[in-house]
Amino acid sequence: MKTITIKNLEGFSGTILIPVFETYAKSLVPIEFHGVAVPSKVFYGKKDSHYVVEKYDCLHIFIGLGKAIDYKDLKTIFRRISSKQKESFGSNVALVLPEQFSAEQVEATVSGLLLGTYDLGHFKKTENHPFLNDGFKLSIISKKETDEAVLKAIKIATAQLEILNLVDLPPNVVNPKYLSNWANESGKKYGFEVETLGFEASKKAGLGAFLSVGKGSENEPQFVIMNYVPENTNAKTKHIGLVGKGITFDTGGLNIKTTGMLHMKCDMAGGAAVFGAMQLIADLKLPVKVTAIVPCAENSVDAKSFLPSDVIHSYSGTSIEIIDTDAEGRLVLADGLSYLIKNFKPEYVIDIATLTGSSVGTFGYECGALFTNNESISKKLQESGDAIGERLWQLPLWECYKSDIESDIADVKNYSGKPVAGAISAAKFLEYFTEEHKAWAHLDIAGVAFGDDEFAKSKHATAYGVHLLTKFIENLSH
Ligand code: BES
Ligand code: ZN
Ligand code: ZN
Repeated sequence: MKTITIKNLEGFSGTILIPVFETYAKSLVPIEFHGVAVPSKVFYGKKDSHYVVEKYDCLHIFIGLGKAIDYKDLKTIFRRISSKQKESFGSNVALVLPEQFSAEQVEATVSGLLLGTYDLGHFKKTENHPFLNDGFKLSIISKKETDEAVLKAIKIATAQLEILNLVDLPPNVVNPKYLSNWANESGKKYGFEVETLGFEASKKAGLGAFLSVGKGSENEPQFVIMNYVPENTNAKTKHIGLVGKGITFDTGGLNIKTTGMLHMKCDMAGGAAVFGAMQLIADLKLPVKVTAIVPCAENSVDAKSFLPSDVIHSYSGTSIEIIDTDAEGRLVLADGLSYLIKNFKPEYVIDIATLTGSSVGTFGYECGALFTNNESISKKLQESGDAIGERLWQLPLWECYKSDIESDIADVKNYSGKPVAGAISAAKFLEYFTEEHKAWAHLDIAGVAFGDDEFAKSKHATAYGVHLLTKFIENLSH
């Protein structure tokens, strides 16, 4: 989506979007803009309300924001207008930015408008959203300088749109190879290095936990390694490591899922969040070094699948007893974490994954589960999430939970076998592979990566994590 800044509406004809903060409902003074007066009995800026007036060759859409509004609600309101009013848009649309808008509010508004172009009907004949047509330019009217915030908003939403696509496309399209190709393309376009280990290279490297998960699939696993280095690095440049779960479909393996399998194309959403964050970090040219790993595999049912009770050997040399083949995410993450920490030694390590049903049971669809032994990281991650409406809440990593992963036959087992504290014991398992890293955090996003909302009839992707990871890294850099 392209934008231009215009000084006023002189000579403009088309649709005008006018955000309005709430005024006193019984105010006698009507809201007035561009010669159009709206009686306060009809519209007074109440949150989630809007009012349309056609006058002077223009369609005026007054958009209620309430008395105060947070980032996420503002973004949702503009996503709604963009997606549900698209028929009335035509090729000329102007956005009037209120003077009191902060840079973050400008960002939320513009990225909401661009996100509203997302259409889940990937396999249907649908017309382009007017914002995506060649030659379309959104006219922005603002008394303040907003170019930087507008540009940033477009970069954020562009990365999020890519990730909505990746997560919502079906698993017969998005297989591990599709993801490694996507990373290559994005790396070339935005400026980060990508190296992929296929089956043979992964075997040679000793990525035994990762490979065991993909054994039952026709689709070759891909261990994707990405590196972003900013233009000017010095001794103080921070180095962040990311790992994302890239299971392109989770049948459960031989411990086949009896419920919820339908939605398991979302099991690469953590990996997708890492891909989106890499694109966005490179696009924003953040002054940090980032190394990211997304182990991509499909957990399928086949004679070649790994078996419950198998003992496998991870990259770190740890032996793992497989109690349940459906606890596969922690296996690919274990190798991802070990490989990242051993070979790249980043200062901070964050992993993100749709890891457990237990985290959904605990938090529902409202926030991700956060695990870390580093209170400063915990605070920074939560603050970054709160600022943009991608919330996190911390759960414990106490030593008493370690017995859940103690095995009789091997160094560790991949599941406690008990239907309690599932998200915590999964996190304890991952911790085992972090070499006691002092600044590691694990984000279990099973409840927030894929869900129901007003934008479609069925569950679909949210792009949770793309902005959160980027914001956290951006905040670290200053
Ligand atoms: N991919 C699932 C977790 C999941 C659940 C993601 C709901 C998205 C929505 C994960 O691999 C899984 O199957 N976890 C099991 C682990 C159990 C067998 C130890 C779970 O949480 O039930
Ligand atoms: Zn599983
Ligand atoms: Zn899974």
